[in-house]
Amino acid sequence: QQTGYQAWLEYHPIALNQVEQYAGYSGIVCTEKEEAIQTAVQELSRGISKMLGKELAVSENGEDRVVIALGTFGGGNALVDRVFDEGARSAVKPEGFAIKTDQASGSLVIGASSASGVLYGVFHLLRLISTHQSVNQLDVIENPVNMLRMINQWDNIDGSIERGYAGKSIFFENNRITTDLTRVRDYARLLASSGLNAISINNVNVHHWETKFLTGEYLPDVARVAGVFRSYGIKLFLSVNYASPLEIGGLSTADPLDPAVREWWRVKAAEVYAAIPDFGGFLVKADSENRPGPFTYDRDHADGSNMLAEALKPYGGIVIWRCFVYNCKQDWRDRATDRARAAYDHFKPLDGRFMDNVILQVKNGPMDFQVREPVSPLIGAMETTNQMIEFQITQEYTGQQRHLCYLVPQWKEVLDFETYVKGDGSSIKRIVDGSLYGNRFSGFAAVSNIGNDTNWTGHLLAQANLYGYARLAWNPELSAEEIAEEWIRMALGGDEKMVSVVMGMLMDSWSIYEAYTSPLGVGWMVNPDHHYGPNVDGYEYSKWGTYHFADCHGIGVDRTKATGTGYAAQYKGMNYDTYESVENCPDELLLFFHHVPYTHVLHSGQTVIQHIYNTHFEGVERAEQLVAKWASLEGSVGELVHKHVADRLAEQAAHAQEWRDMINTYFFRKSGIADALGRKIY
Ligand code: GCU
Repeated sequence: QQTGYQAWLEYHPIALNQVEQYAGYSGIVCTEKEEAIQTAVQELSRGISKMLGKELAVSENGEDRVVIALGTFGGGNALVDRVFDEGARSAVKPEGFAIKTDQASGSLVIGASSASGVLYGVFHLLRLISTHQSVNQLDVIENPVNMLRMINQWDNIDGSIERGYAGKSIFFENNRITTDLTRVRDYARLLASSGLNAISINNVNVHHWETKFLTGEYLPDVARVAGVFRSYGIKLFLSVNYASPLEIGGLSTADPLDPAVREWWRVKAAEVYAAIPDFGGFLVKADSENRPGPFTYDRDHADGSNMLAEALKPYGGIVIWRCFVYNCKQDWRDRATDRARAAYDHFKPLDGRFMDNVILQVKNGPMDFQVREPVSPLIGAMETTNQMIEFQITQEYTGQQRHLCYLVPQWKEVLDFETYVKGDGSSIKRIVDGSLYGNRFSGFAAVSNIGNDTNWTGHLLAQANLYGYARLAWNPELSAEEIAEEWIRMALGGDEKMVSVVMGMLMDSWSIYEAYTSPLGVGWMVNPDHHYGPNVDGYEYSKWGTYHFADCHGIGVDRTKATGTGYAAQYKGMNYDTYESVENCPDELLLFFHHVPYTHVLHSGQTVIQHIYNTHFEGVERAEQLVAKWASLEGSVGELVHKHVADRLAEQAAHAQEWRDMINTYFFRKSGIADALGRKIY
């Protein structure tokens, strides 16, 4: 029994008393041979067979029977062409689909304008069936809201994964690309079934061997991987080393304005496209955390990215250029330099200079995927530049898949954030879907949380983050609860009590993790390097620029324009006023924007120090409640699954105590102020 391997494609058998409404289908009708459509047919057969226990034969004609028909508009499937009128066809965008119950015959018909649209339609239908929804009156049209719905692997050729918490890479081992691609194919299924359409397969920190992915030594293998993803409608991208012309090209420079360098990249692009005709493009981390980039040659990010974009342009390829650029050699005494400001300061002045096949990829917050950060003010600040948002599904700072932390509520907050960059109605989701500025390219990217652990994500419940990310990329209007419910029913089954208990656990989990780790917008109180476990001063005197400035009087970073680093002034309209003012700043971000005494009174009515104590004591109690809630599900989920999650939750509860005690003791000793409730502080 492979616990959790099928994830949300488990396709639990449907109980006999519920099976009736799906039971009448006598076959699948499909006339097209295109690869992704054939994939769709296989997926449909497989899902139906597992859920309904019935094998549906595939044929080219089904007008006289009750069938499930699928195909592209005008692609030769008579049912598709009869059921969808001109209005429906024009409402379906390139990757969208329509599903309709044909009232005349009772057949279900899936139509789309592309093969991948057909595939998404099939997965949608399977989702409806596996969550036991009625299909008798379907009349659905869905289009993905975001054009690029991408996943970034941080996998290295030696099989390790940067910030991976679920085993080794499924792509690489022993300095080669994996020969058996079965698991890669199963990953492609998971991604496509939840709506993703792009993947970069190697770490953004591109080291020696991975730099050679662009050479004949690796390209044929990369092409094999691309082939697997292609059959699921997913485009492959590579992270590239900016210094490639030096490291593998034999040139003496990587200066983006040097004609020989430009020519080298043009030839390279031609070779890559000869091997992979639908190659997506390059993902680039440059001049960031000691990676090479155009700064070495006194050039800027526009020069660097445009050079690559020019090479990819003839083939329709794109350059995704990351904005995670800051000075990682700061001196803690230097109070003027503020890492939070860096991305905006570097990139905003370059607006208007990027080619139209360059996309800037911006992390959701200005620092680095902390438990709580404000939304990056760079998103939406560049009117004439393509942008996409970067989330981190892998739980680097949110419990490393040993703790439960369902991140969809956090991402929703980011997406719903009103930036005011073009007045009211300028939410982050409207910027990254390209509608606010009418961008040519836009979308979502996120760092994956999977590895070769049987259940993919280490903590089984962390699958909900991968699934949830993909669903949000497809439609950011879905609620965190809707997404959680889909995942629970599909992965764990439909027991109603179980669904409601697990839903409650997922929905509380971010707030619980925040409670016992990081109060009021302070980040980084973790052990350096591996970032697991509490260490209040772990980064306090380091060069990474990640300070909380706690002393015996108070805590927090003054990022105001009036007296601090001026970061607050990167926000527009009301947001600037809110963050600049210590009175108006929301409690959860107070210490991100302001340095205040421990006796400062929050909107909640508590002092800062009492808030720290209270949340840490409550956080542990709430983590213990997770253990009890899950214990109540014994018998409602499989035994192995139950034990696996119970073990992780027990570890979390114990580790939460360590967090509580380290943090409380530190701040008690710094402030000298006792807990008003007299609880035990070591
Ligand atoms: C974080 C992470 C690094 C990663 C970097 C990035 O700092 O800890 O491992 O390389 O982000 O996003 O590039």
